Amino acid sequence: MKIVVTTPTGHVGSRVVRLLLQAGVRPTLLLRDAAKLDSAIRERVDIVQGSQSDVEVVLRATEGAEALFWVNPRTTDGDPIATWTHMGANAARAVKDNGVARIVFQSSLGAEKRSGVGEIDGLAGTEEQLDRTGASVLHLRCGYFFTNLLEEPDALRDGVLRTAMPIDRPMPWVDPRDIGDIVTARLLSTVWAGRHVQGVHGPHDLTFTQVAAIVSRATGRPMRAEHVSDDDLRDTLRSAGLSDKQTEGIIGMSSGLRENFTPEDPRSILTTTPTSLTAWAHENLRPKP
Ligand SMILES: NC(=O)c1ccc[n+]([C@@H]2O[C@H](COP(=O)([O-])OP(=O)(O)OC[C@H]3O[C@@H](n4cnc5c(N)ncnc54)[C@H](OP(=O)(O)O)[C@@H]3O)[C@@H](O)[C@H]2O)c1
Repeated sequence: MKIVVTTPTGHVGSRVVRLLLQAGVRPTLLLRDAAKLDSAIRERVDIVQGSQSDVEVVLRATEGAEALFWVNPRTTDGDPIATWTHMGANAARAVKDNGVARIVFQSSLGAEKRSGVGEIDGLAGTEEQLDRTGASVLHLRCGYFFTNLLEEPDALRDGVLRTAMPIDRPMPWVDPRDIGDIVTARLLSTVWAGRHVQGVHGPHDLTFTQVAAIVSRATGRPMRAEHVSDDDLRDTLRSAGLSDKQTEGIIGMSSGLRENFTPEDPRSILTTTPTSLTAWAHENLRPKP
């Protein structure tokens, strides 16, 4: 069974690769730089090196594939939605031309709105591109990744977690490793077919106030959540050099989820994953002795 994994060094992809190896599969990895793979992994996989923006690379990687894990990778391009539209088209073409039977797509909470959710609009577009292929596809509508906290070194240092979301509005927070577990199970399983949507919601919905308190307990340092207005966030992002489309792509993710949003796939045994933020923060944020 040929299984193709995109972003194999990423938060979710790295977990998928490890589990596929442990399941006895030799996966095909599509990535830009094979040197970033651990040497113990490199010898156990097939590699197609190149960008997901290059249709020839995506076609080559998926030749003869039965299953594909597709992620629209984070991008620094000035127009992230345009980049994802292009990449989504590459994925859809490869699925059709190569007759890939099953695709698991790393989508996001909010994609059900289809528009008005910033960058997530680009994921909604890829869901639709993959739907049109007629292949069996699972869209994983993932909650907010715990690993986003690793990208907030200033927040961790200063003890202030800033967000444009209301700080007392609960939302699903999830360990990307747990997403990888679901991805792998679905890639390996041949008992499902058709189009499916599945939330990946972590163990509990959390407010930013609760998240700050959990991080504070894990690190032993004070932390509080603070609401920032869209205008203040816009000023910060623009002064950091982001384009208008990048800026609105980020702001839209919170403004689009703030009002009247209910996930299409509600919390259930299927959407709830085990790792708590407390356990993750102890492992990943606690100062090393
Ligand atoms: N963060 C969240 O809370 C959240 C929630 C729901 C959904 N999502 C979605 O998850 C996706 C990103 O996940 P992530 O931020 O956690 O990313 P990630 O797992 O850190 O993976 C990003 C990977 O993409 C690779 N990459 C970048 N550009 C590439 C290209 N052109 N071709 C091939 N590989 C490329 C990078 O590798 P190299 O740089 O080494 O090439 C990197 O390993 C996005 O679609 C995002 O919308 C995120």
